[in-house]
Amino acid sequence: MSKSTVRGASAVERVLGLLRDPPAEPDTSAGHLDLLGPGAQPSPSLAQSAMESTFLPQIYEHVWRPVGFNLAKGWPFGPDTAAEHAMARDWLGLSHPGYAARPPATVLDVACGPGNVTRALAEGVGRGGLVVGLDTSQTMLARAVEDTADGDVCYVRGDAVDLPFRDGTFDAVCCFGALYLFDDPWTALDGMTRVLKPGGRLIILTSRRPVPLTAARIGGELIRRATGLTVFGDREITRALSERGFTAVRQHRYPLMQVVGGSRGHPLP
Ligand SMILES: C[S@@+](CC[C@H](N)C(=O)[O-])C[C@H]1O[C@@H](n2cnc3c(N)ncnc32)[C@H](O)[C@@H]1O
Repeated sequence: MSKSTVRGASAVERVLGLLRDPPAEPDTSAGHLDLLGPGAQPSPSLAQSAMESTFLPQIYEHVWRPVGFNLAKGWPFGPDTAAEHAMARDWLGLSHPGYAARPPATVLDVACGPGNVTRALAEGVGRGGLVVGLDTSQTMLARAVEDTADGDVCYVRGDAVDLPFRDGTFDAVCCFGALYLFDDPWTALDGMTRVLKPGGRLIILTSRRPVPLTAARIGGELIRRATGLTVFGDREITRALSERGFTAVRQHRYPLMQVVGGSRGHPLP
């Protein structure tokens, strides 16, 4: 492994120690730890094709994300990006930028995109902590690496539906703006549960079907088939967390989005 090509080289070493099956010759040539390699990936949905384009990562954080997500959260009444980041740090038991007492937590940001939320989480983590951003998109990860200076952040190219980490590894797991893109969100949720330490915390920001009517469900299914986006009902994510043994499950609902969180119960399921 060429350490000079990757940001936070010691963070990479630490991440290798968290993997179930660490590669014999880790590839960090693109500035992130690539666990997927060049092999053919399944053909992506329409939505995921956009995530893998070279254009979207350039406008994602400052245009696409605030405009699209703030509208879906009911702007001007819903939380803006800064409030959303603060909520993530609070619900995950992290601290806030500038606070002296910040926990040395190990945090996973699933489907980190260009690292916008990853960096916000890192601001709540203290010395000795580690924040890992995982995504499949090389173009998103390239932008994440370019925009991140923090040595305790490491980016990994991996699949959220088959998380490469050992059981009970993370104090906190965040998955914002992505569960609805996964081909199997429930397997992804199983993986997020598995990699959390008992008592560790999870927060998810995802889609929300605003009305529970059958017509809306059918509409959601049509959207999924056309674009690959899943629109979740109000109870689907909270119920899924309870079924996986999470306690203190909570939810904030916005017009087209929901934030759901909880603490992973003991012992390991
Ligand atoms: C809309 S961005 C979200 C970025 C950031 N988390 C946020 O809240 O703004 C969604 C990201 O999910 C990633 N993604 C989609 N399917 C994935 C999978 N199976 N494994 C890992 N990342 C995935 C995409 O590549 C994309 O970067």
